[in-house]
Amino acid sequence: MTATAAATLPALDAQALRADFPALQQTVHGRPLVYLDSAASSQTPRRVLDALLGYYENDRSNVHRGVHELSQRATDKYESARIRLQRFLNASGPEEIVWTRGTTESINLVAATWGRANVRAGDDVIISAMEHHSNIVPWQVLCQEKGANLRIIPMSHAGELRLSELDRLLSGRPRIVAVTQVSNALGTVNPVREIAERAHAAGAVCLVDGAQAAPHLQVDVRALGCDFFALSGHKMCGPTGIGALYARRALLEEMPPYQTGGDMISSVRFEKTVYNELPYRFEAGTPMIAGAIAMGAAVDYLENVGMERIAAHEADLLHHGTERLCAIRGLRLIGTARDKASVLSFEVEGAHPADLGTLLDRQGIALRVGHHCAEPVMRFYGVAATTRASLAFYNTRSDLDALGAAIETAKEILA
Ligand code: ALA
Repeated sequence: MTATAAATLPALDAQALRADFPALQQTVHGRPLVYLDSAASSQTPRRVLDALLGYYENDRSNVHRGVHELSQRATDKYESARIRLQRFLNASGPEEIVWTRGTTESINLVAATWGRANVRAGDDVIISAMEHHSNIVPWQVLCQEKGANLRIIPMSHAGELRLSELDRLLSGRPRIVAVTQVSNALGTVNPVREIAERAHAAGAVCLVDGAQAAPHLQVDVRALGCDFFALSGHKMCGPTGIGALYARRALLEEMPPYQTGGDMISSVRFEKTVYNELPYRFEAGTPMIAGAIAMGAAVDYLENVGMERIAAHEADLLHHGTERLCAIRGLRLIGTARDKASVLSFEVEGAHPADLGTLLDRQGIALRVGHHCAEPVMRFYGVAATTRASLAFYNTRSDLDALGAAIETAKEILA
């Protein structure tokens, strides 16, 4: 969003919204909790907790299997959540939304089904230098199995993809380009629309890892032009253990099933099984019903707050946090792309990230230290780990001021 467009929106009142999040009301080690770890997992608003509990208290039963009232209510709520997520992503129809356990399972599903059916020896699978392990390892395994080549779009020191290299990579035998929209380790926002266009022009399909994008930016899968989009509920104010895969209907129709068993079939004989219609063909077994229902509530919550307002508020926080952190002597930001969202990764001279993280925790600040499941990114910058503050719309400028002050205190202790 442009700065002008953001300025015309009524500002988001993060302080008021915090009241919706029970977990944000607590103190940790005697200090008010400053939660800066939403890239790992966001917090959950009361409305989502109510939806989760409401299923167990009132509608607890299985879906798609019962004629009784409870099962019908559960089925209606489960399918209604799918429609809400479909609209949230602007997918063409609910059959394009497959419930999964999260982004990792969504990507594994694509690699195991579309990948096994479409990638052959000598083909190229293209990913980028800033991928999370969940968008590396499934493709590595597929390439090993098929004798295909894993190709990497390189990045600059700022943490921006070198798209000039993409055309060279696409000149081989590309089958799929799988890239993250927002890097969990660096915060870089990648131009996935342009990447999808170039992939299609070269005859490849495009998968977008949207785990760190869907909670922060307005996502329109049709405008992006991607073929697959993977997301996780627990990063979007939803419960853990639920996520989704958006896949273009034409591709889903051709894909073999992922897991097999109940609910993914329309008839089973010992001689032959006929698979169910979309998207149930990809949802074997009893699904995470409560999670999907609560995910529908999470999507409603995000839409009520407004994705454009969320993006504008977080852009302001990112700007404020960047200035505050850069004022600290010996602190180096890792990831300085021009287009960034929600992540401040850094190292502090003389402070091991694990020690720094522990000292910050003692001051009530929750953030993540480590390789962030992106070891190739760490290796690129020559570090074993970084300290990462990650933002959500319920953060305030004062959270970032508290982080800055706590880092200064930690530095004094470690000096
Ligand atoms: N992928 C999550 C993170 O970035 C767990 O922290």
